[in-house]
Amino acid sequence: MAKDWTPSSWRDKPILQVPDYPDPMALADTEARLATFPPLVFAGEARKLKRQLAEVAEGRGFLLQGGDCAESFAEHGADNIRDFFRAFLQMAVVLTFAAASPVVKVGRIAGQFAKPRSSGSETVNGKTLPSYRGDIINGIDFDEASRIPNPERQLEAYRQSAATLNLLRAFAQGGYANLENVHQWMLGFVGGSPEAERYGQIADRISETMGFMRAIGISGESHPALRETDFFTSHEALLLGYEQALTRVDSTSGDWYATSGHMIWIGDRTRQADHAHVEYCRGIRNPLGLKCGPSMEADDLLRLIDALNPANEAGRLTLITRFGHEKVEEHLPRLIRAVEREGRKVVWSCDPMHGNTITVNSYKTRPFDRILAEVQRFFEVHRAEGTHAGGIHIEMTGKDVTECTGGGRPVLAEDLSDRYHTHCDPRLNANQALELAFLVSELVKRDHETVQPEALRAAG
Ligand code: PEP
Ligand code: CO
Repeated sequence: MAKDWTPSSWRDKPILQVPDYPDPMALADTEARLATFPPLVFAGEARKLKRQLAEVAEGRGFLLQGGDCAESFAEHGADNIRDFFRAFLQMAVVLTFAAASPVVKVGRIAGQFAKPRSSGSETVNGKTLPSYRGDIINGIDFDEASRIPNPERQLEAYRQSAATLNLLRAFAQGGYANLENVHQWMLGFVGGSPEAERYGQIADRISETMGFMRAIGISGESHPALRETDFFTSHEALLLGYEQALTRVDSTSGDWYATSGHMIWIGDRTRQADHAHVEYCRGIRNPLGLKCGPSMEADDLLRLIDALNPANEAGRLTLITRFGHEKVEEHLPRLIRAVEREGRKVVWSCDPMHGNTITVNSYKTRPFDRILAEVQRFFEVHRAEGTHAGGIHIEMTGKDVTECTGGGRPVLAEDLSDRYHTHCDPRLNANQALELAFLVSELVKRDHETVQPEALRAAG
């Protein structure tokens, strides 16, 4: 077990991004209640994800992580969850089939409720109120009552996470994810888009391959991997009182696990090595993500890796870089070189969203070409450094929203107001997400084609 660590040892450390709860007793009561609730995920599942991520860290596989910037209580219908899952599966199929790479599937879902904010307050028309910090903390409406942090919301977030997870488990294991359905996942498409057509071609080839396999005796009945999939959950571990309440000892190993989600990550604003968020995360055994923005120095990163993955366990730590499309070449090589020099095992993943946010017509948006450019440069830098571009981390939805501009069926600046629904940052819509998956599949495939012969030569 981590030295001098307990689930509450973070409380003695400096901490940022803490909500100002007016009634500390009510907060403590809620946390005590949460601590009696069943875990949302199990340690064995978190270990399974860690094993899959270990493969990615070794260069064999690709991490697809995505979902809402912030889940909301208002948008908790089955349709939303299904549409997200379908868009996500389509992306995974494109990556698995077109790039011939195993894909580790991790949603930003079933717990992604707490948001770090760059400013503690917000001013509209001369009126200043506390910032919205995510539905687990306060309400988005711009009035005084909504913005007061309310601990009861943590119970609602737990309930929604449990219900979402229940449906996701059913989708992943109960038949929806059966590869025989690869054509049915098309139903949600806005007709006639180029991505829909390309996806249709892949679906045809998969169906043909499945027919062949069935003929030689390989089917969903004999091979569960054809009819079900592993789907994992993740969120930013920002609200540490909630996380602590769901931190439990695994009875088989005696280790501590966060049971609020399979993987949790530390945001770019709360990653100080001697602060509370790093302290909490170092003691639990789940796979961890660490966001790395432009201000991350190589020394800071090595210190953080020492704290979070002292045993250098592959799959434990995913570095999620988010520099902005113009800054990848400036920042990524120095971090890669430091990690390589010290022989640290990590998964490198690219978040092409958070460094590319701009304001257009007073909407926060992200131009699709900048998102693509950041991903492309991420792959190029890894190629040049001889390291594995291991994944992407994106904000997306299965709905046809108009939040990010551009794409094959472009969202224009004047369209932003049509269907702008996000509770926080702008998300890719289903078509944009799939278009990104096609691009990434080509980049992954190109890496395979060039990296593998060298690996073979080295092995020979
Ligand atoms: C996020 O992932 O929504 C987020 C706030 O990211 P970052 O910590 O990288 O800014
Ligand atoms: Co975000």
